[in-house]
Amino acid sequence: MNIQGKNILIGITGGIAAYKICELIRRFKKSGANVKVVCTPNALNFVTKLTLQNLSQNEVYIEEFEIKKWRPEHISLADEADIMLIAPASANTISKIAQGFADNLLTSVACAFSKKMIIAPAMNCNMWNNTTIQENLSKLKSRGVEILEPESGFLACGYMGKGRLCSLDKIFNAVCEELSYSEKLKGKKVVITSGGTIEDIDPVRYISNYSSGKMGAALANSAKSMGAEVVLITTKNVEAPYKIVKVKSALDMQKALDEEFEISDIIIMAAAVADYRVKNYSQQKMKKEVNEELTLELVKNPDILKELCEKKTHQCVVGFCAESENLLENAKEKIAKKGCDYLIANDISRKDIGFGSENNEVVILDKNGGQKRLEKASKSVIARKILENITQKCHSELYKAKQRGYELTESVCRADSES
Ligand code: PMT
Repeated sequence: MNIQGKNILIGITGGIAAYKICELIRRFKKSGANVKVVCTPNALNFVTKLTLQNLSQNEVYIEEFEIKKWRPEHISLADEADIMLIAPASANTISKIAQGFADNLLTSVACAFSKKMIIAPAMNCNMWNNTTIQENLSKLKSRGVEILEPESGFLACGYMGKGRLCSLDKIFNAVCEELSYSEKLKGKKVVITSGGTIEDIDPVRYISNYSSGKMGAALANSAKSMGAEVVLITTKNVEAPYKIVKVKSALDMQKALDEEFEISDIIIMAAAVADYRVKNYSQQKMKKEVNEELTLELVKNPDILKELCEKKTHQCVVGFCAESENLLENAKEKIAKKGCDYLIANDISRKDIGFGSENNEVVILDKNGGQKRLEKASKSVIARKILENITQKCHSELYKAKQRGYELTESVCRADSES
């Protein structure tokens, strides 16, 4: 894994394991990364500023109000870094970050940091088992923070138990893997749909559904952070650093997808597409005085996902499945009927996940009968996990397609030279 030129920000808190981080800084530097260190004042009881400064070949940041530049330190440190690692992370700092406290430079940077954060806790085993600490760790996990759990063994405080900083190899590999994450979809085009389609009845009324577009937007953001070229086809007003195609109805969405399909690698249909539209759109507002009762005649919309699957060549096609009952049973039937590579099943009868919610809980089904449940978490965490799960498989499919092309070219060349 190449981390040459990557910017790693290491936060060190007050704990005996702080001395081990010196070796870690050296390894990151040796691998070509730029390392900056931010310490809590207590960390300096265990390791000196001079050591950290020499190893990182950078200034060490501690106090918040040493005003040297026009830009507040906690913002510029957060902006510059590709990743933030906090190791060792004390119970105190973990809890502050989970609760949004920003009372020293390290916690202020953590508060302003929006990219990937990895935390390696180290503390006494009873502190580790404390319910509040565990709740705070769960909170951080659900926000996408990776926790490298401590190991069991003899602790510096004299106890035997879980609390020892995990191995430096584990921390080093987790950081390197995360840094290579931003290149996982490099060179791939990912098209995502989001939001509920709108089927007009007259100039005033329409048929739609409760999709907020959050799940699709989270997927698009994740794909972008993995280095993909992203196109988001959506019924919502969105501003983002990738191509947005605003659509309204199912037919508009189908047209937009058709334009992108051939040259895309992965298509994810998170949109809630109306199955029906009105047969005869009324150009004028329908008058209620005329009708005591109103019957709308509906016609079926095309099944966009199914049609894409029928014409796919190398693309990896992923559908979503919104069910209010018998989630898995219906999802299994749907993946077979639609013919997609993956189907992401979610229960939209629950108020805490699915439509409009910040969170989701899904089961990933694949065309070979495999299943993987992703426990409830924020939609951005779920999006990332979905992409991580499907990209490995999609990569090998895309690779095979490329290989087929390559073999064809090679045999054509051979045939040409033989003739
Ligand atoms: O937008 P949010 O508020 O964040 O909510 C997210 C979500 C609940 C909308 C999302 O997670 C989700 O489940 N999206 C799919 C909704 C849906 O239409 O499910 P379905 O089971 O009816 O359709 C199955 C698949 O076929 C979907 O990928 C859908 O995009 C596609 N479809 C459906 C009908 C149709 N005519 N054409 C299609 O392509």
